[in-house]
Amino acid sequence: MLDILKKSVAQFALSYVPKNSIIGIGSGSTIKFFIEALSTVANHIKGVVSSSSQSEKWLNRFNIPIVDLNTLNSLDIYIDSADQVNFSMEMIKGGGGALTREKIIASVAKKFLCIIDYSKYVKKFKFFPLPVEVIPMSLNSVSREIIKLGGVPKYRKNFITDNRNYIIDIYGLYIKNSIFLEKMINNIPGVVTVGLFSIRKADILLISYTNEIKEVFV
Ligand code: A5P
Repeated sequence: MLDILKKSVAQFALSYVPKNSIIGIGSGSTIKFFIEALSTVANHIKGVVSSSSQSEKWLNRFNIPIVDLNTLNSLDIYIDSADQVNFSMEMIKGGGGALTREKIIASVAKKFLCIIDYSKYVKKFKFFPLPVEVIPMSLNSVSREIIKLGGVPKYRKNFITDNRNYIIDIYGLYIKNSIFLEKMINNIPGVVTVGLFSIRKADILLISYTNEIKEVFV
């Protein structure tokens, strides 16, 4: 059921792809559907900046050109899903572990289009563990700092990011001021990126319900 919703919102997102542009894309199962949809109009775009090796594989499968972010000054649009989006358009991302590259590409994009099924749209963040990418040698020191913040850190076993780092998933954290928390966690030595997207949040949100797709703007 959710897959059908992911597929329909991915298809709808094509209307946001500017002709002759280079777009940025995220990672995950929703984006897999988006890449499939994009392949049908691939000759309308110049290429894609990819946020993960997994997305790269899918793009290669459809012969969609991949562009190196270092060759660009900016991007018109970044299209990605999220694990949760709150009513202020802030997101929790990184369930698939690609959060750092996702945040980098989002930071250079003029617009962030987030595409989700309705189950991910919440008034306030709840229950979903907050991922943090860390340099391997800092696993324990970062974990101790997370406990001081009131969270329960859990090392994501048998998982190495595309940047050869580890992921800690934080459980039970009460997120009151998300911008403050994002800065605070990012400041812990050893942290590469926290999967809280509050500073650079979504500009446009597409939410897929059984009978319609809702567009929400900031
Ligand atoms: C990848 O690291 C994540 O940020 C994904 O964007 C997020 O987990 C959503 O993934 P799904 O589309 O698979 O739910």
